[in-house]
Amino acid sequence: MKKKLPLAVIALGIAASVGFANAASHADPVTARMELMKTIGAQAKILGTIAKGEYDAAAVSAAVTTLHDAALQIPTAFETNATNAESEALPKIWEDFSGFTAKAEGLQAASMTAMNVTDAASLGAAMGEIGGACKACHSNYRK
Ligand code: HEC
Repeated sequence: MKKKLPLAVIALGIAASVGFANAASHADPVTARMELMKTIGAQAKILGTIAKGEYDAAAVSAAVTTLHDAALQIPTAFETNATNAESEALPKIWEDFSGFTAKAEGLQAASMTAMNVTDAASLGAAMGEIGGACKACHSNYRK
């Protein structure tokens, strides 16, 4: 789904992401894992904006914590081998689930490291690691 979303929808997504733990209980596993990824994407966006603007320790801490919690949920969210027309998940996820899980662990580790950032410079470095962890998985397991 690479559609451009109207700003109001993006804002809603960020607001909804606060309650993302509920996504796991969503009836449809494909929608639930997309919601989880949207939550992850929203946190990366928040951190990227802060890295370029005024440093806000409380906002960084909140986004990093949400990102780490979401990263911990990736393996469970993708456990069910299901797809739909919208999904960008590759079959390789379920053919090589331990490899996929290892990529999720990469994001868990990167977001754990990001808990120690103290300023825009260290946040920038942590963002590089986080972005690398997203890419390491997407380039192998996402269309
Ligand atoms: C362990 C693998 C993995 C990691 C790590 C990962 N992703 Fe994903 N992501 C996926 C897969 C697989 C999909 C496609 C899911 C689908 O469409 O069913 C996806 C989809 C997405 C989507 C589209 C969601 C939608 O359907 O609208 C966004 C946005 C996204 N990821 C952002 C990120 C960001 C940002 C990071 C890093 C901070 C990240 N992801 C880390 C596997 C991963």
